[in-house]
Amino acid sequence: MTGANSGVGLETTRQLVKQGAHVIMACRRIESAKEVAKSFAAERGTVSFEKLDLSDLESVRAFAENIKSKHKKIDGLVNNAGMVTSGKVPKRTKQGFEMMFAVNHLGHFLLTESLLDIINETQGSRIVILSSIGHAGSDKKRPEIHFEDLNYDKRVFNRTDAYCESKLANLLYAKELAERVKNKKTTVVSVHPGWAKSNLAGKGFTAFVQNVLLTPVAPLLTIMSNEDAAQTSLHCLLDDDVPKFSGEYFSQNSLLYSDKECRRGGWPMKSPNPNAHDMKSALRLTKVSKKMVGLK
Ligand SMILES: NC(=O)c1ccc[n+]([C@@H]2O[C@H](COP(=O)([O-])OP(=O)(O)OC[C@H]3O[C@@H](n4cnc5c(N)ncnc54)[C@H](OP(=O)(O)O)[C@@H]3O)[C@@H](O)[C@H]2O)c1
Repeated sequence: MTGANSGVGLETTRQLVKQGAHVIMACRRIESAKEVAKSFAAERGTVSFEKLDLSDLESVRAFAENIKSKHKKIDGLVNNAGMVTSGKVPKRTKQGFEMMFAVNHLGHFLLTESLLDIINETQGSRIVILSSIGHAGSDKKRPEIHFEDLNYDKRVFNRTDAYCESKLANLLYAKELAERVKNKKTTVVSVHPGWAKSNLAGKGFTAFVQNVLLTPVAPLLTIMSNEDAAQTSLHCLLDDDVPKFSGEYFSQNSLLYSDKECRRGGWPMKSPNPNAHDMKSALRLTKVSKKMVGLK
């Protein structure tokens, strides 16, 4: 579980541990993971802590090697970590990539590809990739993958657009990978967890609006607890029906869908963004991502 120390990832981890699972908490801040894990130390399951900074491809490679040396099977991989940058200019990773595309997609891409052999060797394993409703946009503006400038070297930077594009990449990767591993019986799905009161909004004004000002109308806006938001990931990891829907998108309900029929969400549901159904784009994204992270 990446990003297991906070928000939706923490609550997903807690429920899995309550049910007796062993969860590897893959976090960039190990101390934070150890601190929050004290709250479920008495539960049936267990956790271990491993350092993973998804913005640094060297950290991802080291993490994957470490996991492969310690574990011979992985029942589930949850690519849960995610982030939104602040400011009006792109932030860059150590390897020079735009930060949100790198953390939300590329780092997880390298992680998944690096662990794929043991995941595929584990009977009935599942890969759950956290996306966002943001990938869907509105009928006036549907996010798309800008292959000509993935790194925002030429485009005018807009952090919302960049976040939504990285989240579309999550859907497309799930779709492409599901097709690639279907003979191995590995299930791959993408998830919109809902509008959760997590730490994604940061600590500033946006968080104050979300966590304080909007509290009286939170249910109307479908703003939910992290525990409620963890339910879609848990369903995708545990429900017997999910393997029938490998490659698909599972979403909580949300008023934020501009398309009325999507507002109720669905397990699974059809994304209203036509760009999320384009297998050609999905294949191209995998090809380009491989090149970017140095895989053949
Ligand atoms: N909250 C929502 O309303 C919402 C809506 C749609 C989709 N999502 C998606 O849900 C997922 C979970 O987010 P959340 O809402 O639970 O947010 P959150 O509370 O901010 O948790 C995000 C997690 O990602 C980790 N992370 C960020 N950058 C990282 C990096 N470079 N390397 C490793 N880990 C990193 C964070 O670690 P630190 O604690 O060290 O920062 C944290 O553990 C994300 O993929 C997000 O895009 C959330």
